[in-house]
Amino acid sequence: MNKKALIIGKGKIGNFLADTLRKLNWSLVEVVGRNDVDNYLDSLQKKPDVVFLAIATEDKDAACAYINLFNGAGIPVVTCEKIALSEHFGQMKRWIDKGMLHFNASVGGGIMIPQQLETLSALGFEEIRLVLNGTLSYIAHQVDGGMPIEMAVEQAQGLGLTESVGEKPDIVKIVQSEIHDIVRKSVILVNHLGLASNLTFGQVKLHGSSNLRSLMDILSRPGFRYVVTITRREHSGVSGNRPTIYQPLENGYSLRGDWEPINGTCSERIGSNCGFYFHSVHNTVQFFGRGAGAGPTVSAMIADANKALM
Ligand SMILES: NC(=O)c1ccc[n+]([C@@H]2O[C@H](COP(=O)([O-])OP(=O)(O)OC[C@H]3O[C@@H](n4cnc5c(N)ncnc54)[C@H](OP(=O)(O)O)[C@@H]3O)[C@@H](O)[C@H]2O)c1
Repeated sequence: MNKKALIIGKGKIGNFLADTLRKLNWSLVEVVGRNDVDNYLDSLQKKPDVVFLAIATEDKDAACAYINLFNGAGIPVVTCEKIALSEHFGQMKRWIDKGMLHFNASVGGGIMIPQQLETLSALGFEEIRLVLNGTLSYIAHQVDGGMPIEMAVEQAQGLGLTESVGEKPDIVKIVQSEIHDIVRKSVILVNHLGLASNLTFGQVKLHGSSNLRSLMDILSRPGFRYVVTITRREHSGVSGNRPTIYQPLENGYSLRGDWEPINGTCSERIGSNCGFYFHSVHNTVQFFGRGAGAGPTVSAMIADANKALM
């Protein structure tokens, strides 16, 4: 029997998802945008099997309202946006625990980081190092290859990899929004792994400055990427003017984010832009792949939907 989907968000991801679902013989109840409020209420009557949420990371409460509405009506939601879980994890956890809310595509796009780490960390871990933002990795990779930073940022925008930051965005706004994206993904992960209870984006302090000079300086360091570390090791302190993250967590862990050379433990493979290095007494695993981009994101969303409908 055909599965019925409602897609909320008519942007790059929403449109690519619609095309892909049609090819997979799903029926689309509706693809609705910001101004189609009546449509999605109508769509609720048409009883979609699953709702895909692909709205911009902008409005603090819109995503939660959609999730509460559809999950409350017994319809599973698959999301790739980050606000609901990085602002209201405590409220959303009840839906996750009931198997109604699926969010693998919101952290690391296509490489299913929440699901992988949940499995790997069941017996605890010493350290996880993650490259969480495919867009910054893409820009840094192009700069490593000799492209001017401005051109690399423009290319990332052209490929639809950047978060939406309004009209005429400059480099500072774009890079800042990707660093905020890293904080949001980190918050979702540490809450999901039980290392924080209801930590929110606003509670995590970004240290250092995000002015043009400090951003240009870090992006131009060959072989450096933004690495997030969740660790039990002592914090050695962060120096310099670049934007860094430090947040104490539960059970002796802390969360750190900084520009680091990635040769060695967290090296980027050809064609990949996200990944993680997981280390415990039981296992050491490295995992890399394409995080950002419509293809991998939509693949993770459909995998989540199939799981929700099993
Ligand atoms: N692009 C990627 O590679 C990627 C990867 C992983 C996750 N994501 C996440 O996926 C989401 C969508 O990304 P995108 O690249 O598709 O962004 P996008 O092209 O900017 O599209 C976002 C869409 O969301 C719509 N929207 C915003 N608020 C809404 C609301 N309250 N109700 C209904 N629609 C609303 C916007 O409508 P208007 O046109 O009216 O503004 C726009 O059509 C974002 O949260 C992003 O973080 C993206």
